[in-house]
Amino acid sequence: MKLILLGAPGAGKGTVAKMLTDVDGSVQISTGDILRAAVKDGTELGKQAEAYMKAGDLVPDELIMGIMGERLQEPDCANGFLLDGFPRTIPQAEQLKTLLDKLGIKLDMAVNLEVPREVILDRLTTRRTCTGCGAIYNVKSAPPKVEGVCDKCGGTVVQRDDETEEAISNRLDVYNEKTAPLVEFYRNEGLLVDVNATSSDEVVRTIKEKLAG
Ligand code: AP5
Repeated sequence: MKLILLGAPGAGKGTVAKMLTDVDGSVQISTGDILRAAVKDGTELGKQAEAYMKAGDLVPDELIMGIMGERLQEPDCANGFLLDGFPRTIPQAEQLKTLLDKLGIKLDMAVNLEVPREVILDRLTTRRTCTGCGAIYNVKSAPPKVEGVCDKCGGTVVQRDDETEEAISNRLDVYNEKTAPLVEFYRNEGLLVDVNATSSDEVVRTIKEKLAG
């Protein structure tokens, strides 16, 4: 499958992507995870991205397209991919379209995860993430078995740097201004599927049904 997952911060893109990668070996490509790893490793990309991320602003399109232009041509993408957090602006979506056309790749769909704002705010303040493998937890709905310890890799489970009240509020504003217009972009491309994402199981079921035709 070749999918784009659209949705506000906290809509469940990462959670759904991780559930779907088990289905047919498609690879999850999360620009957020790539950037957080770069920040942690102190690479040049990480140094350039860190301040934007901490404030909840978008990293400049040129940096993102540099990463994704290369990532989408890696061999593991041949089995399919789930784009989680990319594209995020109209220029990114347009450049992605040009790149995929050049590579002869056709997207199956762009899935728009719809979740009410109050649910999103609750999810973001209660999310916890493993610093080792990126596994996603939630202190209310999906806590790790041992507090602060990842079930999967034993790594440390923490709250992300961009989960302050101020950064969350900015991320939601940035989403509305820069990313929400992608819903219409993909509707015009004939690729959009709207899904109520209150239940991740329901989202996965809907996507599988649509892919099966
Ligand atoms: P990124 O990591 O992409 O963050 P985001 O879009 O803000 O999305 P989140 O990871 O916060 O949420 P999610 O939708 O994946 O939800 P999750 O599954 O974790 O980006 C971070 C930053 O990187 C950006 O702010 C920007 O600076 C930069 N960046 C990244 N990509 C970029 C790009 N393309 N261009 C420019 N800059 C870019 O779920 C949230 C919580 O809810 C979890 O606790 C989970 O357990 C829980 N949950 C999920 N589903 C359910 C459910 N059904 N029921 C109950 N709980 C649930």
